[in-house]
Amino acid sequence: MASQCAQFEEAFAAHLGVKNAIFVNSGSSANLLAFFALANAECPAVGISGNNKRLRPGAEVIVPAVTWSTTIWPIVQAGCVPVLVDSDPETLQMDFRSVEAAISERTAAICPVHVLGNAVIMPSLLDIARQNKLWLIEDTCEALGTRQNGKMVGTFGDIGTFSFFFSHHITTIEGGMVITQDDDLAELFRCMRAHGWTRHLRRRKEVEAQYPEIDPRFLFINSGFNLRPTELNAAFGIHQIKKLEGFNKRRQEIAKIWINAFRSLIDNKSFVPMRTTPGTESTWFGFPILCETRQLRDRLQRHLETNGIETRPIICGNLARQPAFKKIPHRIAGELNGADQVMDRGLFWGSHPLMSDAEIEHVIQTVKRFFQ
Ligand SMILES: Cc1ncc(COP(=O)(O)O)c(C=O)c1O
Repeated sequence: MASQCAQFEEAFAAHLGVKNAIFVNSGSSANLLAFFALANAECPAVGISGNNKRLRPGAEVIVPAVTWSTTIWPIVQAGCVPVLVDSDPETLQMDFRSVEAAISERTAAICPVHVLGNAVIMPSLLDIARQNKLWLIEDTCEALGTRQNGKMVGTFGDIGTFSFFFSHHITTIEGGMVITQDDDLAELFRCMRAHGWTRHLRRRKEVEAQYPEIDPRFLFINSGFNLRPTELNAAFGIHQIKKLEGFNKRRQEIAKIWINAFRSLIDNKSFVPMRTTPGTESTWFGFPILCETRQLRDRLQRHLETNGIETRPIICGNLARQPAFKKIPHRIAGELNGADQVMDRGLFWGSHPLMSDAEIEHVIQTVKRFFQ
């Protein structure tokens, strides 16, 4: 981790218009770092002391039931309790009304997840977080570059996390990023990313001066992990971030082509495509749809796969139904009917800026043939 990583972090921060971007080895690591830093007791060396907003053991974090597993595991690993709320089956996003209803005396944070390129409606969620003095951590691993009311998602809350796994909006093969406007928190991220070490701190000299008795080359001021990316990953990132806007424009064009081509199937309710939330310019990670029944979804899935079109469930479905949850302390707030529908009737096929016209057309013809 050296100059290429620093250059990628700078370019990423500039693109999103934020002060601090910390590159890590995956989106899961970005979430791990976010929650462990917030749960960290004190780190006076980087200005974090008397941390009364700290996530204490048993604190509740509100998350959607429709998300990827490693949005939730870091919350549990940091000693907190995930509180699952429902998602709208058509937009796939969690609803601020369910969040409001889920708040308890133990709530310390909200973790909205911008699912599959679409986005949670952020202004209402921001108000709720501010009124209740809650941390807001945006898992933006599936929505890099998505804008809402002109502002990039991931930049609304206290912390935004991103993934550059190769199926995502840009790739560094594996990789992730944590962003924040809070300089002290950013230093804690840099420290905890690399062993609790001071080597990559922006204020390294200042911190070293506080401990003159210790060799400054090997100074450890906190607990930490090794979540470091490599120069090789960063070299990809430096080029990829320049292409992000073009990539996303193409993703939007492809979604438009498919929606137009499927207009009559949508009108006669053969299936429902993902509905974009108000004010959002979705960047369409893939093309998610809901079928009328589970049987129909299963048959469509087989038909697509047989014709060379890979499909996926809508991420993990309703995560509360996954076996892992049997052994995880959690709370479910309200009904998870929307998440159940997503799990039982939903699927998505991929989208990619480099898809050829023939591939885009093959999807159209294959889907039409099924419903005919
Ligand atoms: C919403 C969400 N959060 C976190 C992650 C984890 O990212 P990574 O695969 O880079 O570890 C993903 C991965 O796809 C994701 O979709």
